[in-house]
Amino acid sequence: MSHFTGHHILSVNQFEREAIEKIFTVAHSMEPYARRQKRTSVLTGAILGNLFFEPSTRTRVSFGTAFNLLGGEVRETTGMSNSALAKGESLYDTARVLSGYSDIIAMRHPQAGSVKEFAEGSRVPVINGGDGANEHPTQALLDLYTIQRELEYNGKGIDGLHIAMIGDLRYGRTVHSLSKLLCLYKNIHFTLISPAELAMPDNVIAAIENAGHRLTVTDHIDGMVDADICYQTRIQEERFPSQDEANKYRGRFRLNQTIYTRHFQSKTVIMHPLPRDSRTEANELDNDLNSNPNLAIFRQTDNGVLVRMALFAITLGVEHLVSKYEHDVVWYTNKS
Ligand code: NCD
Repeated sequence: MSHFTGHHILSVNQFEREAIEKIFTVAHSMEPYARRQKRTSVLTGAILGNLFFEPSTRTRVSFGTAFNLLGGEVRETTGMSNSALAKGESLYDTARVLSGYSDIIAMRHPQAGSVKEFAEGSRVPVINGGDGANEHPTQALLDLYTIQRELEYNGKGIDGLHIAMIGDLRYGRTVHSLSKLLCLYKNIHFTLISPAELAMPDNVIAAIENAGHRLTVTDHIDGMVDADICYQTRIQEERFPSQDEANKYRGRFRLNQTIYTRHFQSKTVIMHPLPRDSRTEANELDNDLNSNPNLAIFRQTDNGVLVRMALFAITLGVEHLVSKYEHDVVWYTNKS
């Protein structure tokens, strides 16, 4: 049993390198199930409460899919207005109630710190699916898993990595969590590219500096030739005081094949937590990159299922039983 069994997953600060390696080993072992080569019923009878009080497609659906792939069932609540929070119920009370109906809960909420507050009232483990501009630990783990897998092909590891993070580093919770996670590794070079107003928060900068990593802060994409990873982000318009304010920055750091070729080496891996804003005024990752083999965005989303399966299995203490409850897949599938 892991020391994560029965515990909440609220922040990347909870992880050490050893725990991350264990999660990644379990995530890798989930591939046959995610690819429908086998199925497992290890979580038959278990219920996931999937609570999303902020818009989400892939995080919500991949949490649900991951739980289903382990044999469990999913009960979903989406949108604030459809829940009793809109009637003034506290996060504590909602947590007390819903934890009586579930074995584990995944939750997203627009306020920083809300998932932690909710977890204090919960009788079952809670996994943070994003709390405002604060953290998104499961995205950071799937991003790191993707980085590790992508760099393997280039014969590199995470230590010594050069990552360029681009766009809205102020409100983008994925870059906050990923940066903190990368602080556990050695000799990382962070190049942070954003308008000054959307710079990485001080607490993340302090974590990078305290870990002794190399830091370059700039407001233009230039001289990225030795970057291993280009991590593009969306302007988080929902967190700006007004739409006009957000519009000032949309399209500032668009990336297409021509810009990529000009500034990056030919093997730089392109990542994005998604959704990418494909409206012409933003176009932060142009469709002309879709045929670039280094575009890893859909490998990232596939990896999200593996990592979330691993987190569920470990948190519920069944990671060693998954193959014991294995069955054949009897329907047509072309996923493998
Ligand atoms: C991100 C999020 O919600 O923080 N999306 C995701 O979970 N994959 C990034 C974003 O919305 O821009």
